[in-house]
Amino acid sequence: VKKIAVLTSGGDSQGMNAAVRAVVRSALYFGLEVCGVQRGYQGLLNEDIFPMDLRSVGDIIQRGGTVLQSARCKEFMTLEGQQKGADILRKHGIDGLVVIGGDGSYQGANKLSKLGIKTMALPGTIDNDISYTDTTIGFDTAVGIVVDAVNKLRDTMSSHERVSIVEVMGRHCGDIALHSGLASGAETILVPEVSYDLKEVADRMHHNFACGKRHSIVIVAEGAGRGEDIAEQLHIHYPNLEPRVTVLGHIQRGGTPTPRDRNLASRLGDFAVRKLIEGESDKACGVIKGEIVLTDIDKVVNSKKEFDHETYELALRLSQ
Ligand code: F6P
Repeated sequence: VKKIAVLTSGGDSQGMNAAVRAVVRSALYFGLEVCGVQRGYQGLLNEDIFPMDLRSVGDIIQRGGTVLQSARCKEFMTLEGQQKGADILRKHGIDGLVVIGGDGSYQGANKLSKLGIKTMALPGTIDNDISYTDTTIGFDTAVGIVVDAVNKLRDTMSSHERVSIVEVMGRHCGDIALHSGLASGAETILVPEVSYDLKEVADRMHHNFACGKRHSIVIVAEGAGRGEDIAEQLHIHYPNLEPRVTVLGHIQRGGTPTPRDRNLASRLGDFAVRKLIEGESDKACGVIKGEIVLTDIDKVVNSKKEFDHETYELALRLSQ
């Protein structure tokens, strides 16, 4: 490859900027030309493509969001859209593309590679729902935000001996709930991967209050149910329980990325460029047990991420 482009697509995540910076700076270091594509695949179809240099990515490693902006693009799901995208890249002399995003973004990269563009995909999502990587760019920061919120909620819940229900993001994946629940000492963690019985949850809560607990924290992944519905059910089982609900929402997607996310993004961005130079294409970059690895995008998009039941059991054991 001689000239590559980079884009961010789907929901943004903290650390995307660090990944863009790594792609641009590594590419320039190795003598490639680099372009940025504004607003993901939609921007590609609008030919929103511009050259990037060392200074284009200055002062962004610490920023949340993505300087390239992001979008979800329906047109790019069609073969016509994908063909148009590949033609536009060729017209600009671009033969390699690094895509930073989630599952949908990976599918786009996979299709483009079938149309002759060399592609690399990086896991940029807070959800941690991508297979063949232990973690995704933004996940660590999002978990930190939830833990920080729970610390604050604990204070006021203890004062009033209340139940706090915290609804967190993650789409169909329970990882944000699981990892923030373990780190914040939540009493209950509800995730889509494990079925639950709210009567049992209410009984345990009632028992724990009777044994002297001063508050109860429930973390519910959005894929496992709505905080408001859970509050209502708990109240029906024990009318003296009047849970307060906090939906953290997009707060989880903002703010400065943690060092862990920045470093993961930097390593993955650089790795993607080096692999493109080596002639690899249609690959997803991830980290497994600390090692940066390359996997066929097909394999990644066609497998569901395994849930970490061991960590879930641990959180349960420690939450009494
Ligand atoms: O994929 C990231 C994510 O934040 C999910 O956790 C959430 O379900 C979704 O995006 C929200 O999407 P939007 O930003 O379009 O509301």
